[in-house]
Amino acid sequence: MIHHYDSVDSTMRIAAELPIGDVVVAGEQTAGQGRHGRSWHSQKGDGLYCSIVLPPTPLLTLALGLAVAEAIAVPCDLRWPNDVMINGLKVAGILVHLIEGKAVSGIGVNLNHTEFPPALEATSLKLQTGHDTRPADLLDRLLPAVESYAPLPPDDILRLFTRASSYAAGRRVTVDLPEGRIEGTTIGLNPDGYLIVRKPDGTDTLILAGGVRAARS
Ligand code: BTN
Repeated sequence: MIHHYDSVDSTMRIAAELPIGDVVVAGEQTAGQGRHGRSWHSQKGDGLYCSIVLPPTPLLTLALGLAVAEAIAVPCDLRWPNDVMINGLKVAGILVHLIEGKAVSGIGVNLNHTEFPPALEATSLKLQTGHDTRPADLLDRLLPAVESYAPLPPDDILRLFTRASSYAAGRRVTVDLPEGRIEGTTIGLNPDGYLIVRKPDGTDTLILAGGVRAARS
């Protein structure tokens, strides 16, 4: 069932109470949540703000990035684990909360913004293509894409993600870790979908969470 709201604090809060298969979509969010405790700019008409209640399948966050990439139908890159980027700027973000045997999967896509503060390093489909997108139209493409990518076997998700993401292998990156910043080159994903970064001294670090950025050359 799809639950539509004009305005909510966060679709994540509402979806957390719903069964697997339900979707919450809001015209605006007054307290949109981003990853790592950040907020997600969620002004009316500017974006798609939805949370989909899914079974917790392996590599789900990577699969959701693939689904968003397919739904927006604009050439894009996937910054591990799940930022959708166009021309080096973030156009969509994904936030998965595992709650009581459910994967509450929040997806925010910047659609019709005409500007962003440069510090945000963000973009919208409108800024990239010149066209407006109705949130409902994107949701119509997103839901079938999620249905087809989320249940794929892990090996398929790893292969598709590696093909779709310039970050998966051979990219110089900086990574902010709790114990400090490291720099290195990505050399692939392990079977659990974690990113392996090889440092200049030849040692490898497994990156378990985000904080990955392209290194300045
Ligand atoms: C990120 O930081 O990249 C993740 C952003 C996720 C934003 C979406 S918008 C719909 C859903 N509801 C929220 O409060 N957050 C997610």
